Amino acid sequence: MMNVLLIHLLLLALINVTQAWSPTGSYAPGKVQCPSNHDLLREGDSISSEEKDWVKARHEKTDKALIEYLDSSNLTDFDAKKFIRNATRSPNIALAFSGGGYRAMLSGAGQFAALDNRTVGVDETNGLGGIFQSSTYLAGLLGGGWLVGSLAMQDFPSVDEIVLENPNDLWNLTETKQILTKVSVIRNLVPALWGNIQNFFKAVNGYNGKNGIGQELQEKEDAGFNTTITDIWGRALARQLLPKGKDNYMNASTWSDIRNNTGFKNHNYPFPMVTALVRFSKSKAYNSSLPVVEFNPFEIGSFDYSLNSFFDTQYLGTEVNNAVFKPNPFYKSRYAKNKEIVNNSTLYLIDGGLADESLPLSNLMTKERKLDAVFALDNSENWPNGKSIIKTYERQFLDEDDKTVCPYVPGESSFQHFNLTAKPTFFGCDAKNMTDLAKDGVVPPIVIYLANRPFEFWSNTSLLGLKYSDPQKKAMIRNGIDVTSRLNHTLDSEWQACVGCALIRREQERQGIKQSEQCERCFADYCWDGSTFEVEGDYFPNVNFTKTGLTNDSMHLWDTKPGTSTNVSSISVLSYLGFKKRQLFDLFI
Ligand SMILES: *[C@@H]1O[C@H](CO)[C@@H](O)[C@H](O)[C@H]1NC(C)=O
Ligand SMILES: *[C@@H]1O[C@H](CO)[C@@H](O)[C@H](O)[C@H]1NC(C)=O
Ligand SMILES: *[C@@H]1O[C@H](CO)[C@@H](O)[C@H](O)[C@H]1NC(C)=O
Ligand SMILES: *[C@@H]1O[C@H](CO)[C@@H](O)[C@H](O)[C@H]1NC(C)=O
Ligand SMILES: *[C@@H]1O[C@H](CO)[C@@H](O)[C@H](O)[C@H]1NC(C)=O
Ligand SMILES: *[C@@H]1O[C@H](CO)[C@@H](O)[C@H](O)[C@H]1NC(C)=O
Ligand SMILES: *[C@@H]1O[C@H](CO)[C@@H](O)[C@H](O)[C@H]1NC(C)=O
Ligand SMILES: *[C@@H]1O[C@H](CO)[C@@H](O)[C@H](O)[C@H]1NC(C)=O
Ligand SMILES: *[C@@H]1O[C@H](CO)[C@@H](O)[C@H](O)[C@H]1NC(C)=O
Ligand SMILES: *[C@@H]1O[C@H](CO)[C@@H](O)[C@H](O)[C@H]1NC(C)=O
Ligand SMILES: *[C@@H]1O[C@H](CO)[C@@H](O)[C@H](O)[C@H]1NC(C)=O
Ligand SMILES: *[C@@H]1O[C@H](CO)[C@@H](O)[C@H](O)[C@H]1NC(C)=O
Repeated sequence: MMNVLLIHLLLLALINVTQAWSPTGSYAPGKVQCPSNHDLLREGDSISSEEKDWVKARHEKTDKALIEYLDSSNLTDFDAKKFIRNATRSPNIALAFSGGGYRAMLSGAGQFAALDNRTVGVDETNGLGGIFQSSTYLAGLLGGGWLVGSLAMQDFPSVDEIVLENPNDLWNLTETKQILTKVSVIRNLVPALWGNIQNFFKAVNGYNGKNGIGQELQEKEDAGFNTTITDIWGRALARQLLPKGKDNYMNASTWSDIRNNTGFKNHNYPFPMVTALVRFSKSKAYNSSLPVVEFNPFEIGSFDYSLNSFFDTQYLGTEVNNAVFKPNPFYKSRYAKNKEIVNNSTLYLIDGGLADESLPLSNLMTKERKLDAVFALDNSENWPNGKSIIKTYERQFLDEDDKTVCPYVPGESSFQHFNLTAKPTFFGCDAKNMTDLAKDGVVPPIVIYLANRPFEFWSNTSLLGLKYSDPQKKAMIRNGIDVTSRLNHTLDSEWQACVGCALIRREQERQGIKQSEQCERCFADYCWDGSTFEVEGDYFPNVNFTKTGLTNDSMHLWDTKPGTSTNVSSISVLSYLGFKKRQLFDLFI
C-alpha cells in the first residue's frame, strides 16, 4: 500500500494545476479571461520564444559567473575572459537532480550547496561554488523535484539559509512533522487496507482541522474540480517545503508564479523545471517509450514524438478544443505524432522515475537546448549503479525520443567495475567520437556524473523513509557536499580546475583549440575511456567503498579533516553545520 501510494504520489507535488496566482486566492482553481494575443498550444519543435529570450538574458549573467569560476580555478595556459568573450556562443550548463525520495532531496541539497557560491565554507579556497551561478538550466525529478520546487517557488534561497538559519522551519522531517506518523499509520492505514480509503487520507499530517489539507481539497471540490490523492500528497509536502506564511503554505501559489519572482525576472538563477511521464491508456507498462513531460515556468509539454506539444502553464485547465471540457491540455493537439494520448480527454501523469530514468536528462539534453555540460547528480537507488543514465542513453535511439542527445555510457557492471559511481566521471569527453549521436548537428554535452556514496554519513537511506532527525538531515546534506567537492578537495586539489576543463570543452572543440596539458591530465583521470566490463547481474553484490572505488572489503567513514577517521558521523560534520554536541545524541536514538 505504502509502496503503491508513494510511487503514484511522488509526482507534481508542488504544482497546483490552475491559473496563475490562483484567481480564487486559495487552492481552488478559478476562471480568468483567456489572452487574445497568443496561442496556448504550440508544436514541440523548439524551445518557446519566452524561454529563448529568457536564456539570452540569463547568458549575460552566466558568462560573467563562469569567467569568475574559471579565473578562481587557476587553469593553466588559459585566459577565461578572452575565451568567453570570443566564444561562438555562451556555454549552456545544466544541473539535473535525480529522484529517490527524501534521500535524493537531501543529498541533492548538499550537491546543490557545493555548487552554490553562497554556501559558507565551499568557496573560499578551491570550491565548486559559482557553478550554480554559471548554469542556464536546472531540473529535478521526484525527490530532486521537491528540492527544485522548494527552492524555485521561494526564489532560490541558499541551502545554508534553509538549513542553518531557517526562519520558516522548512525541511523539518522530524517525527512530529513527518507526513505519516507511526500512530496515524496504525490507526488509519490498517483500516484503509479493509477499504476505508477516506480514513487513510485523514492519517496524513495536517489533513484535519481549520486550514488543513482537507479544507483545501474541499475548496477545490466546491469549485467543481475533482481532487485526487496527488492533491493530498502535494499539499502535505507543501507543509514541509514551503513557508507557512500568511497564505498557509502558499495555498494559492502556482508554478507559473515563478515568472513573477524577482530572481527569475532578473535572470539571477537557472531556468527551473520538473518532469513526469505520461501513461498510455492501453498499456500499464512503464518503459522508456512513455513521453517525458516537463513543467517549466512558461510551459508544460513534451518534445517527444507522442505529444510533441507545449501548453502555457499559466492557463492549465483551459479547454482549447471545442469538444468536451476536460483537463488534458493537449487534447486533440494536431502536433502529436501518435494520437492515443491526445485523443483522451484526461491526461494521465505518472512519476518521472517509473521507467528507471531517474535523472531528468532526456528533456534537458534535447537538441533544442544545445547543452555543453550537464551535472548528473544521481541519488537514485540506494547506491546508484548508473542505470538512470543508461536509460537516457538508450532512450535517444527510440522513435519516441527523436530529439535527445546523450553521450556513450557503459552498462551497470562497468559502472561498478571501473568505480564510476565511487568517484566523479565525465562522459562524452570527445565530441569527435560522437558524430553518430548528433542530431541536426547538435552533439551530446559532456556529462559530469556524480553519484551518491558515503563519505561522512551512510547516505543510502531508504526511498520510503519519511523521517529524518535534524542531525541526520544535516549529515545527509554534508555528505552530498563531500560527494561534489571530493571530500572537501582533499582527494584532488585540482578538482575545481578539472571541472573547469569539462565546462569549456565543447567550446574549445568548436573553435579547434587544443586542451592544455593540465586539462589533458584531468581528462585522463576523470573521463570514461570507453572500456567495458560486462557481466550478468550485480557485479558488487554487497558494496563497500574506498575513498575512490568500490570494494567488497570492510570500510569506515571519513572526515573532511585529513588524518582522522570516524564512525557514522563526525563531530566536525555537525560542528560545521553549527550544532551543539548535545544534539548528537539525537542521531543515535
Ligand atoms: C505578476 O505581476 C504583475 C504586475 O507586477 C501582475 O499584473 C500579474 O498578475 C502577476 N502575475 C502573476 C502570475 O502573479
Ligand atoms: C556569486 O556569484 C555571483 C555571480 O557571479 C556574484 O555576483 C556574487 O557576488 C557571488 N557571491 C559570492 C558570495 O561570492
Ligand atoms: C576566436 O575564435 C575564433 C573562431 O571562432 C578562433 O579562430 C580564434 O583563434 C579565437 N581567438 C582567440 C584569441 O581565442
Ligand atoms: C589559485 O592561485 C592562488 C594564487 O596563487 C591561490 O591563492 C589559490 O589557492 C589557487 N586556487 C586554486 C583553486 O588552486
Ligand atoms: C521541527 O519541528 C519540531 C516539532 O514542531 C520542533 O520541535 C523542532 O524544533 C523543529 N525544528 C527542527 C530543526 O527540528
Ligand atoms: C469527476 O469525477 C466523476 C467520477 O469519476 C466524473 O463523472 C466527473 O465528470 C468528474 N468531473 C470533472 C470536472 O472532471
Ligand atoms: C489560504 O490562504 C489564504 C490567505 O492567502 C487564507 O485566507 C485561507 O484561509 C487559506 N485557506 C486554507 C484552506 O488554508
Ligand atoms: C482514456 O484513458 C483511460 C485510462 O487509461 C481509459 O480508461 C479510457 O478508456 C481512455 N479513453 C479513451 C477515449 O481512449
Ligand atoms: C567512441 O565511440 C564508439 C562508437 O563509435 C563507442 O562505442 C565508444 O564507447 C565511444 N567512446 C567513448 C569514450 O565515449
Ligand atoms: C576500483 O577501486 C578499487 C578500490 O579502491 C581498486 O582496488 C580497483 O583497482 C579500482 N578499479 C579500477 C578499474 O580502477
Ligand atoms: C562492509 O564494511 C563493513 C564494516 O564497515 C563490514 O561489516 C561489512 O562486512 C563489509 N561488507 C563486505 C561485503 O565486506
Ligand atoms: C574544507 O577545507 C578548507 C580548506 O582546507 C577548510 O578551511 C574548511 O574548514 C574545510 N571544511 C570542512 C567542512 O572541513
